[in-house]
Order: sequence, then C-alpha cells, then structure tokens
Amino acid sequence: MDQENTPIIIGCDHAAYGLKDRVKAHLEEKGIPVEDKGTFGPASVNYVDYGAMVAKAVARGTDKRGILLCGTGIGMSMTANRFTGVRAALCNDLFSAIMAKKHNNANILVMGGRVIGDVLAIGIVDAWLETEFEGGRHQERIHTMDQFGSKG
Ligand code: RB5
Repeated sequence: MDQENTPIIIGCDHAAYGLKDRVKAHLEEKGIPVEDKGTFGPASVNYVDYGAMVAKAVARGTDKRGILLCGTGIGMSMTANRFTGVRAALCNDLFSAIMAKKHNNANILVMGGRVIGDVLAIGIVDAWLETEFEGGRHQERIHTMDQFGSKG
C-alpha cells in the first residue's frame, strides 16, 4: 500500500477533540483514509494514553503517519517521541510544518488546539502532507538520531 492510501492515524485529548474532528473531515475530503483512535468528547482523559496509541501504531508500520492534538501539543509530542522510529514534530506555524517534513521527515504532526485556530491547523496539515523530505544529509542525521534507540 503506498502512503497516499495508508490511513493517517489520529488521536487527541479532551482539549482538542473538536479540532480532531475538523482535521479528520478535511483529510477525508481529500480522499485520505483516517484511523481515529479518539478521544471522542470533552471528558477529561490522560493525553499520554492517546499519544501512545498513535505513536505505537506509527512506529510499527513502515509508511505510517499520524496526527496528534492536545491543548498545547507539548504533552503529545513528548509522549510520541518516546517511541523508537517516531519523529513527532510540534508545529503550531506553517514554517515549522514545512521544515518538519523537509529536514526531519516527521512522521507524526502535533498541534495545540488551545494555541492555534482551525484554519491555521488545516493549513499546517496540508503543508506537512504536501512537502517532500529532502533526504541526503538529513537522512544521515535521522539515522544518527535512531542510534539512540528507545528511551536513550
Ligand atoms: C490538558 O489539560 C492539557 O494538559 C493537555 O491538553 C496538553 O496541553 C498537555 O501537554
């Protein structure tokens, strides 16, 4: 299955479930399948549980990509980056989203639902999806990063 048809795995906590629904609808409108790991409403949850679910699924697959959303994006990015093979990038602006793909080949995009609005978030998603990884020296740097393995 090529990456275009591989579902994007998405997860959030209570601080960003509205944004998750908006992002999910946008991806589906673009014809990109979505695997939604929740949460599905405003009841308070531990973002780590949802971040770990998405990060584990991305870490296991070859062409897998994920999107994680919480209040700031900080907790989700900290959680996801505990998993070997995950390169989660907290991007609350367009430039970071472009560079996160171009130089870091981020396989999980993280955003903060209490930091940015829905329109910017959708723009960030598109920038991340549409930017190509440059490879070359950036691939070597990722390889160096991967030598540290799980939890250092
Ligand atoms: C939840 O209140 C909040 O702590 C969470 O969404 C996130 O911002 C954590 O980093």
